[in-house]
Amino acid sequence: MRIHRTPYDNVLQTVGQTPLIRLNRVTDGARTPVYAKAEMLNPGGSVKDRIGLAIIEAAEESGALQPGGTIVEGTSGNTGVALAVAAAVKGYHCIFTIPDKMSIEKVRLLKAFGAEVIVTPSAVPPDHPDYYNNLAKRIAEERSNAILADQFYNPVNTEAHYATTGPEIWEQTEGRITHFVASPGTGGTISGAARYLKEQNPEVRVIAGDPIGSIFTTYHRTQNVEPGSPYMVEGIGNDKIPSTLHFDQIDEFRQVCDRDAFHMARRVTREEGLFVGGSTGLIVKVAVDVAQEEDDPEACVVCILCDTGERYLSKVYNDEWMAENRMFRPERVTAAYLIESKADAGPLVSVGPGASVREALDLIEEHNVSQLPVLEEGRPVGSVTESALLGAVMEDPARLANEVREVADEPFPVVDADAELSEITSRLTRQNPAILVAENGSVCGILTRYDVIHHLMP
Ligand SMILES: Cc1ncc(COP(=O)(O)O)c(C=O)c1O
Repeated sequence: MRIHRTPYDNVLQTVGQTPLIRLNRVTDGARTPVYAKAEMLNPGGSVKDRIGLAIIEAAEESGALQPGGTIVEGTSGNTGVALAVAAAVKGYHCIFTIPDKMSIEKVRLLKAFGAEVIVTPSAVPPDHPDYYNNLAKRIAEERSNAILADQFYNPVNTEAHYATTGPEIWEQTEGRITHFVASPGTGGTISGAARYLKEQNPEVRVIAGDPIGSIFTTYHRTQNVEPGSPYMVEGIGNDKIPSTLHFDQIDEFRQVCDRDAFHMARRVTREEGLFVGGSTGLIVKVAVDVAQEEDDPEACVVCILCDTGERYLSKVYNDEWMAENRMFRPERVTAAYLIESKADAGPLVSVGPGASVREALDLIEEHNVSQLPVLEEGRPVGSVTESALLGAVMEDPARLANEVREVADEPFPVVDADAELSEITSRLTRQNPAILVAENGSVCGILTRYDVIHHLMP
């Protein structure tokens, strides 16, 4: 950790060398120690200070950025602040395009450093000209002496974390780190730090937290780019695959819902005295889960605290906003609530009675589920489980070509979206590993015993 024994020439010299701080209360008694790298203590308030400076210095070295030049970026805020801090010290002009779902505090903050901010619509597809990154690119091309920081595709991003974040963590844990937890936005932090840590010790396990709705988790498992869905945590996850995210450095992805992420962010602030944003809540949730599962006092989990909670005073730390967005845990737990909180939320995966057993097994593998409802025009007509299908095929491989209707079991029971936890648990039995949830007469989701247990665990 940095000890400020001598004065600095300017604020940029204080980027990085952030402290590693043990989390004591939010770990709920886990025996594995969890340490947090307090990146919100960087001068710009986030982990992005490391790359803002590195990107500008690389552009200066290559000659792409000359004195008095302009730095352009599509940014959800923190990279903008990082670039704006460095630009202020070095005398550059900044233009940022920022999607309208981002906190108003972030826009004001960028303007405070003298940057020009253009707010763009969130609800446009990534190939639309108004998509914030496309607009930033156009502005950088049209201006003279301007560079696009390009954090999602600029290798300097990942290299900055390889050169600083990784070595700092290795040194601060004296090589004892066993698990590294971070959440990719651009992926620079996790990919760069992971590469360094794995070079020192290939056994270090790297775990990525990902918001439900982001496409990264599915991509990691299947290499398919499937459509994402909206989520509220800012700065992490994505609806496209950036080149700064190196999937080969990541051992595992775990998905977390907005509610759990925000709940944990508030706990980290109140119980640890560390004021952090929503993405940090998501990362700490994963880190604590890993620590509890490991249950080993000799292991050492390190996670990243990405940015300061001050950027979310109107959202995560505003009770009205939390209530309006149904982010508080309800007093009455219903089937609809459990469906919303599911770790693998997405459209219901089902199979038709006329599909082949092979198709059903492919679906089970692709979506990483153990069972499928058999639906005909939205009505449950049967169910299949992986173990029953595999058993049938092992007995006679020709059954792969059979229709699902020939091998299906009874349909899973159906409960209403408004059904309470007691009804749900009583319907989930050894015979019924899953139940279907219906809203206004049509099936809208599936709940397994795992989903209920996941809810009951703290
Ligand atoms: C708040 C916040 N958390 C986490 C991240 C993820 O870091 P990275 O882009 O290095 O993956 C970002 C990135 O923008 C962020 O803004």
